[in-house]
Amino acid sequence: MRVFRFSPSSILSRSFGAMAYSLAGFVLLLPGALLAAEHPGYEIDPARSTTGIGKFYMDREISFVMGHQAAEWLNRPGRIQEEMPDEVVANMGLASDHVVADIGAGSGYFSFRIARLVPDGKVLAVDIQEEMLQLIEERKAEEQVSNIELVLGEIDNPNLPPDSIDAAIMVDAYHEFSHPFEMIDGIYNALKTGGRIFLLEYRGEDPAVPIRPLHKMTETQVVKEMSVFGLEWTDTLDFLPWQHMMIFTKVD
Ligand SMILES: C[S@@+](CC[C@H](N)C(=O)[O-])C[C@H]1O[C@@H](n2cnc3c(N)ncnc32)[C@H](O)[C@@H]1O
Repeated sequence: MRVFRFSPSSILSRSFGAMAYSLAGFVLLLPGALLAAEHPGYEIDPARSTTGIGKFYMDREISFVMGHQAAEWLNRPGRIQEEMPDEVVANMGLASDHVVADIGAGSGYFSFRIARLVPDGKVLAVDIQEEMLQLIEERKAEEQVSNIELVLGEIDNPNLPPDSIDAAIMVDAYHEFSHPFEMIDGIYNALKTGGRIFLLEYRGEDPAVPIRPLHKMTETQVVKEMSVFGLEWTDTLDFLPWQHMMIFTKVD
């Protein structure tokens, strides 16, 4: 794991449809789950969308990365009603000693909430923007939080050791990963068997969700992309006003 260090101090740094699938015993497990996942490939189209990068993965255009300059927007008070973060983390079923990677952690909006639930474990806050990690570091110091480690990720690598995490969460982040295959491959390898991925994205099926299209994802698209890996689609929790909270499990 590449641990991000600031100086001078040293810092370690689904819905009804899913339920129906579950009841039917449907498992999104490829026959060759023990084999390396096969890369579906990327496509480039110079005629990109306004908020897209012109790079497509499994028929989805990838969006721009949200810059750290907009970090304060991640902490907006209205988010409590819009995204119900405390209810999200309460629904993760965490044990006090779990190690949880918050991938695309941003300003730590979810990292700090998860850290309170894993007092004997830790949160690995992963981001590719050092400025985001700096914000988390400052808040750690202010609030005397010691069980969040900062990890400087790369666009194609979460930089996490194999078999090291019980869960990974991505909130409003996966749609902007420029290398989604490589990222999920890295997260998959970092997960312990039985470990879970929590993937939260604004509901792409719902035109009433006031978010630009490339910043939303449909449940069908997420399942398609996760099915490349040996991941079981365990559930989709749809208690959130605007997002799907999708859960995938590493079963092999
Ligand atoms: C819209 S913000 C969401 C932040 C946080 N999850 C939240 O809900 O407040 C998306 C974050 O993902 C990060 N990101 C984008 N691509 C990434 C990658 N490949 N690996 C890790 N983080 C990434 C961005 O730097 C940004 O901080």
